[in-house]
This record gives sequence, structure tokens and C-alpha cells, in this order.
Amino acid sequence: MVTFTPGRTFLVTPALDPSRFDKAVEVGADVGLLDLEDGVPTARKAEARRLAFGHLSHAPSGGPMSVRINSLRTEDGLRDVLTLLDSGARPEAVLLPKVESPVELRQLDELLGPRLPGVALLAIIETPRGVSAVDDIATATPRLRGLIFGAADLSSQLGVPLTWEPMLYARSRIAMAASGAGIHAIDSPFFDLEDPAGLEEETRRARALGFTGKIVIHPDQVDIIHEALRPSAHVVAQARRVLAQADDGKGGIHVVGGNMIGPPLVAAARRVMASVKLESGET
Ligand code: GLV
Ligand code: MG
Repeated sequence: MVTFTPGRTFLVTPALDPSRFDKAVEVGADVGLLDLEDGVPTARKAEARRLAFGHLSHAPSGGPMSVRINSLRTEDGLRDVLTLLDSGARPEAVLLPKVESPVELRQLDELLGPRLPGVALLAIIETPRGVSAVDDIATATPRLRGLIFGAADLSSQLGVPLTWEPMLYARSRIAMAASGAGIHAIDSPFFDLEDPAGLEEETRRARALGFTGKIVIHPDQVDIIHEALRPSAHVVAQARRVLAQADDGKGGIHVVGGNMIGPPLVAAARRVMASVKLESGET
């Protein structure tokens, strides 16, 4: 049974330096992410596999850990899965990159099958074909708990700049597909380590589209992302007002502070308050 819920932040570490494998817990990221794909040179894939799965078999980090394997359409991806199955490693989630069809996820689901029934899957959408097939991908298997947007690969394949506007269509499709399937949407990494304001702005915009988390490529990004994903004081105050005045269980329309508030906006206010309670640990 898969119990993993994608957190807000996944801190990536190329799977070559075990001294950094537990960094996520140390810096307060929600999930650690050991990378076997683009963060590892081809000649060192076998070594990375041995280190990552060895670590995940013997040294619990204290927090949830995930692994990005290589595409199942590559020899390295197939080797990653076989090594995972033989290793005794139990990551909370496996990230499958460059997914273009639901068949890839069903295949991985079946391969993990009885030996690793508790491992969640997350699909990285980062090619034009993946974006086109995203609705079918999102419902491929109940093991799938989230879609992750990969902006670097998508912009490179499209031959367009890695900026907000050219990536907006893909982000919107991914957020819609994830919401329709009842799973999470996790945003792409932000690659400029010297632009914290840009990271904050991109995270806020992604949240406004429906994303609930972001991939993190440097520990300094964690707190900025957590803060940007939090509803603002203004939004929380408005949600409180809506619930105090309009949530009487009778439905219909109420006027709150000059705004017409019906059932969908009451539900939205409840969601805001639920996220605030979740974060503050209230029940
Ligand atoms: C991540 O994998 C990306 O391509 O942005
Ligand atoms: Mg990528």
C-alpha cells in the first residue's frame, strides 16, 4: 500500500556523494531525492546505482527519500529498476523522467509489483509528447502520486527560452491533469542560484496555477520555497471572513466584504484554512 504524500520540497543530490545523501533532513526539505539520471555522467551510472541503493538499504535518513531513475526507454533505466529490485532498498518514491505514455508507468508499476508494493511513483513531464499525453499519464496507475514538471528538458527540446511565458502552457496542462486525477503537481527546479527573488516569484506563480511543491537544487532554496507556497496573510484573513459569514451549511450566495460568495468559494476558503492548519500542526 502506497502511503507517500508528495511534500513541498524535494532536495536533489546526484547519487555520487554519500556524505550529502541525508542533506534534505538537515536543511528542512520535505523529501530527499537521489538522482541517477542527468546529475550522473554516463560512465559513473553503475557506481551511482550502487551508492544510492546501498544507502537506501542500510541507512535510514530520518526523512522520506526518493530516487530519480533513468528513462525506462534506456538501458540505464532498465538496469536501475533491476538493481532496485535486487537491492533491498525501500525508497518512498521513484521518479520516472521523460514519461511520454501511461504504458511506461504501468510497466514500472508491474515491475515493482509484489516486491515493492509501498513505493509511490512520480512522473516527470518534460517533453512535448509527455505534455500532449499528460491527461492519460496522470491516471496511469493508482501508484502514481504526482506529476513533476521538467522545464529544462522541455525548453531545450522546444528550442525556446527557459522563462515563464514559453513554459506557461505546459505548466497549466500539468496542473490541470494532476488536479483532475487527484494527485499532486510539483514544479520544475529554478536554476539561477543567484536569484532568490526570481525563485520566490516563480514559486508563487506556480502555486497560483495549482502546484503544491517544487524540486530544489540547493539547500538555500528550501525556506524561500516553503515561504512562497504559504498562503499570504491577506488570503488567510479573507478565508477566515468567508467561513465566519458564509459557511452556515445552507449553501446559496452570501455577500462578504462586497464579494459574492457561493459554495465554490466557501470550499476554496476551507482549503486555505486546511493548508494553514496542516502546516501549523493543528488538528
Ligand atoms: C528536470 O529534470 C528538468 O528537465 O527541468
Ligand atoms: Mg529533466
